[in-house]
Amino acid sequence: MPIPFIPDDAPFTGDQRAWLSGFLAGLHSRLAMPTIAGTAAEPVTGAAAVPLHILYGSQTGNAEGLAQDAADLARRHGLEPHVASLDALDMNALAAMRRLLIVTSTYGEGEMPDNAQLFWDAIAADSAPRLEGLYFAVMALGDTGYDGYCKAGKDIDARLGALGATRTADRVDCDVEYEDAAAAWLSTAVPAIAAVDGVPEASAAVPAASAPTPAKVPSKRSPWNRKNPYRATVLANRVLSGASSSKEVRHYAFALGDSGLVYEAGDGLGVKPVNNSELVDALIGRLRVAPDTTVTVKGSEQRLDELLTHSYEIGVPSLDLIEAIAERSGDDELQHVLSTGDRESLDAWTWGKDVLDVLALDTTLALDPAELLALLRPLQHRVYSISSSPLAHDGTVHLTVASVRYRSAERDRGGVCSTFLADRVAEGESAGVFLSPNKSFRLPADDDVPVVMIGPGTGIAPFRAFLHERRARNAPGRNWLFFGDQHRASDYIYEDELNALSRDGVLSRLDLAFSRDQTEKIYVQNRMREAGKELYGWLEEGAHLYVCGDATRMAKDVDAALHDIVAEHGGRTSDQAEDYVAELRRGKRYLRDVY
Ligand SMILES: Cc1cc2nc3c(=O)[nH]c(=O)nc-3n(C[C@H](O)[C@H](O)[C@H](O)COP(=O)(O)OP(=O)(O)OC[C@H]3O[C@@H](n4cnc5c(N)ncnc54)[C@H](O)[C@@H]3O)c2cc1C
Ligand SMILES: NC(=O)c1ccc[n+]([C@@H]2O[C@H](COP(=O)([O-])OP(=O)(O)OC[C@H]3O[C@@H](n4cnc5c(N)ncnc54)[C@H](OP(=O)(O)O)[C@@H]3O)[C@@H](O)[C@H]2O)c1
Ligand SMILES: Cc1cc2nc3c(=O)[nH]c(=O)nc-3n(C[C@H](O)[C@H](O)[C@H](O)COP(=O)(O)O)c2cc1C
Repeated sequence: MPIPFIPDDAPFTGDQRAWLSGFLAGLHSRLAMPTIAGTAAEPVTGAAAVPLHILYGSQTGNAEGLAQDAADLARRHGLEPHVASLDALDMNALAAMRRLLIVTSTYGEGEMPDNAQLFWDAIAADSAPRLEGLYFAVMALGDTGYDGYCKAGKDIDARLGALGATRTADRVDCDVEYEDAAAAWLSTAVPAIAAVDGVPEASAAVPAASAPTPAKVPSKRSPWNRKNPYRATVLANRVLSGASSSKEVRHYAFALGDSGLVYEAGDGLGVKPVNNSELVDALIGRLRVAPDTTVTVKGSEQRLDELLTHSYEIGVPSLDLIEAIAERSGDDELQHVLSTGDRESLDAWTWGKDVLDVLALDTTLALDPAELLALLRPLQHRVYSISSSPLAHDGTVHLTVASVRYRSAERDRGGVCSTFLADRVAEGESAGVFLSPNKSFRLPADDDVPVVMIGPGTGIAPFRAFLHERRARNAPGRNWLFFGDQHRASDYIYEDELNALSRDGVLSRLDLAFSRDQTEKIYVQNRMREAGKELYGWLEEGAHLYVCGDATRMAKDVDAALHDIVAEHGGRTSDQAEDYVAELRRGKRYLRDVY
């Protein structure tokens, strides 16, 4: 019988093969239907420890979880795994290493995750050590929806090679549905790196079920994840923005019930949406089939309407679909956009279009349901910054979400997840959620340290959490918030709460920027510049600075303002200001949660 993930010609004895098969099947099912990780793997004993360093770059925990899986498997191969984040490593330690596995995601626009940036800066520098004695392999996590697909992993892989290190397995690039590819890669990459300098003695001892546990890495993985979300009851769903606002921002509260879900201020919450039934019906109509038509997917027969409702992304169209329809429809404009290879033009073309729009390019095209499904991406969860504090809002988790609504080509459209929350789960009903940790976006451990928070629009979410957390902790440190949106009258969300926090002395300073209440736009960075001297003073006193909200425009402009403030009020050249801000980042005092 073929064994999943193990090539038939792999060099294992029958016992080893049977054991490894069981372990991988367990690993695989744990990834698909998780239990608390870290309990399944039994250690190998009886040999001198052969260290394997497993370093991760991870923003929301996927890469970190896979690093723990790699550690479980490494123990089986007689290795002693040491798991840590990439930025915990210094270059002397790297130069002295023999075996290294790296698992990293990519963030921003092709950037390193926060806890990999320092490592990258160090290995990218001219002063990086030569690594001829190092054997390594890289697993990259990413999302083909982004331009810089898996760029962090690709860059690290290439740079380690350029520094003279030897690859024991080719890099694997894993898309959003990463579980199968990751498990398959681990099943070959771990034995390959174990075999460096000869197979460790202990691997002959597989299996060794009764052995004591050496260097066991405690796993904190939650049983709830995107494959197995917790059904949380919606306790509140209310509109925060005023009637005259051009936006609809809502406050949600979910009950954590008996989930055991534990979060910290700064974390995110993943929400598994359900598609809009009107769009599902329209697509089925376009395919000219009955809703109860069945399609065989991964060996099981399922109803088309169910699949389109729960399993496929029918809002934002996939690149595969766009390319296929461009070719079959011969649409001139789309073919031109694709032929340039320019991702920005393609994104501009795609902006505001859903799957139905793409199929409408040629209404005579006949597509059968299975053909269409093969071109769609699996329906993804969306992440939201948690706006509550576990200390202040016991047993619940809150979100602050802007509903994405717009009209295009004479049809009202809605973002899949934000309108799922707004329109398709009423109070008392439940939605699938799971924790998306953001370990680097944390309040200072020292409650005396001042914090500056810049969060216009829904960017206020984690700062509401921070402020409530600091109040609940009786933290004496000062708190300064920059907030803004279009109009004070309609978009000043959480105004009462912010006033109360100011009255209570928790919010030491609040600077507001309502962009459209005057002829000239006023943004949070204008307020930062106006208060530049004081802001620089707070930084000099050790304040931590946080930014949350729009990544493409706001976060970039805020970053530029910060550099200017440091240069002007710190009497520095622009290079020195650059170094000062880099030092803030290195010291984890300039943290961003931007999207
Ligand atoms: C770490 C993180 C934290 C986040 N925190 C928050 C948060 O606290 N609050 C929050 O509200 N969001 C937050 N987001 C964003 C959130 O995850 C979703 O991206 C957002 O809610 C949109 O998802 P959706 O499913 O509703 O829209 P989608 O179905 O993903 O649709 C988005 C698409 O709609 C189209 N579109 C959108 N607006 C327009 C328009 N005006 N005109 C034409 N087309 C348009 C575009 O094609 C766009 O690609 C966060 C994101 C991340 C990564
Ligand atoms: N990519 C886009 O074109 C686009 C557009 C809107 C929203 N979004 C996304 O929509 C989500 C929710 O947005 P939101 O409603 O919470 O907030 P938002 O759209 O970011 O708006 C909040 C405030 O920020 C202002 N703003 C606009 N450009 C800015 C800049 N360069 N620097 C500083 N402030 C700026 C807005 O002003 P004005 O509106 O008056 O300019 C508004 O007052 C986010 O994911 C955001 O990234 C994206
Ligand atoms: C805001 C944001 C930006 C992202 N940017 C990229 C990107 O530029 N390139 C990419 O390949 N993946 C990108 N991703 C996808 C992540 O790398 C992917 O979801 C990964 O599984 C996350 O792993 P982690 O939980 O270990 O951080 C992005 C995800 C988010 C939420």
